[in-house]
Amino acid sequence: MKTTKIFADKNLTIGEISPNLYGSFIEHLGRAVYEGIYEPGHPTADENGFRGDVIELIKELNVPIVRYPGGNFLSGYDWRDGVGPREKRPTRLDLAWFSTETNEFGTDEFLKWCKKTGIEPMMAVNMGTGTIKDAAELVEYCNHAGGTTISDARRANGAEKPYNVRYWCIGNEMDGPWQIGHLSADEYGKKALEAAKVMRWANGEIDGKEARGADRALRLIVSGSSNHEMKTFPAWDRTVLEHTYGQADYLSMHRYYMYDEDRKRPLEDFLGSADDMGEYINTLKATIEYVRAVTRSRKRMYISFDEWNIWSVTAPRREPLWKKAPHLLEDVYTFRDALVFAGLMNTLLNNCDAVKLACLAQLVNVIAPIMTERGGGTFRQTIFYPFRYLAGNARGETVRTFSDSDTFANMYGRARCINEAVTHDADSRTVCVSLCNYAQEKREVRLELRSFGDLRAVEYVELANADLGAVNGFGSERIAPAQKDLPSGKDGARVTLTLPPMSWSFLKFAY
Ligand code: AHR
Repeated sequence: MKTTKIFADKNLTIGEISPNLYGSFIEHLGRAVYEGIYEPGHPTADENGFRGDVIELIKELNVPIVRYPGGNFLSGYDWRDGVGPREKRPTRLDLAWFSTETNEFGTDEFLKWCKKTGIEPMMAVNMGTGTIKDAAELVEYCNHAGGTTISDARRANGAEKPYNVRYWCIGNEMDGPWQIGHLSADEYGKKALEAAKVMRWANGEIDGKEARGADRALRLIVSGSSNHEMKTFPAWDRTVLEHTYGQADYLSMHRYYMYDEDRKRPLEDFLGSADDMGEYINTLKATIEYVRAVTRSRKRMYISFDEWNIWSVTAPRREPLWKKAPHLLEDVYTFRDALVFAGLMNTLLNNCDAVKLACLAQLVNVIAPIMTERGGGTFRQTIFYPFRYLAGNARGETVRTFSDSDTFANMYGRARCINEAVTHDADSRTVCVSLCNYAQEKREVRLELRSFGDLRAVEYVELANADLGAVNGFGSERIAPAQKDLPSGKDGARVTLTLPPMSWSFLKFAY
């Protein structure tokens, strides 16, 4: 059996892990909102129609922040359609997903749901059909105390106090020709800058100061590349940042990885996703640093990786056009997907110095860890588990690792057979280790964690299965981590593990 040695020293850190690295995303798309988080009449729904069973699962996942309302939907959405008395809200064609949008659920419902769920909202303004005026007025609606027609409309709609929404995306995937109102980098950069200015002004931020305190200041996210295969990448990101560096706080990036079911590409290409994601982040880090130098700015710009996941983009549409809440993008994730997914999470952790916000896309029913049945139950997809364990435990800082793992060839270059992340939380005095074994054989891993002192293993779970294509479903969650015997021995700082072929393992130590 081959052995891989992994060394981590608590003094060699990559950076602080922002809790917002474990964010997610709900779009008006398919059954994410309707029949997902919102289903009046469902046995677990509250008086607002919010499904209680779904809220419980979201809490179990440990999601701190949720992006809303899109996604591609955003670029054709008029936020005014979704506020005020329900019977007066218009029903519209959603040109992004060819569905019918009834607007029963809108800004007030989402922000109420966030409050109930204990989640920080991350709202978005439309840069496709929307104007900078629409953007500023949405900020006014959400954050201005009262005394204007728009803020008083919010109060009349039931929210007496302002919501003080802090995180705002300025548009979505504006580099993509599929986007409603797609723009060139220059056009978008100019518009995003003007939108950012008036949004801040509407929030009471003048000359870089927020009258009510820095905590209330907006955190603005400009739209970066939709993926690194775009012909415009990374010039798009450079141009957008050259326009907006002074106003923006984050540059967004998106990426979905896909397994080729037709086997035209080898499995290794899918398994190389985590390392490829790291390369993509590295290019954006360099682009940001370039613009920082050009603009002579002292400010640090962070990355908001606000759409990432595995998505079989080729899955055929099963529903007719113009349905309300159609079954769209309801990928059922395999055990194989969960392994790649865990590697992607390792990459996010290993880049926590730059990636300060990330959104698993999406949260419920649409390429999601949680699935629901109309009027019925729920199930946890295979990808639910790596997210739950890491979001619930891997806090504090990511520690740099040194590994002698062998590598395998794939379409992106070479990737490590043993893919790892090690985190350290000085507050809770814990160290977490996430390990993917992408080899088709058992592997021994020797962890050298000497600098942490006397470590005691407190949790060890493993996701392994002989069938890479195995999935979960309603009433059958067969892909779930198994509890392992805790590694023991006098010296917990030197641990030897045996990883099954194609598996993910998670360990937590205390000291
Ligand atoms: O998450 C699904 C879609 O993927 C989003 O609407 C869009 O932003 C991306 O292309």
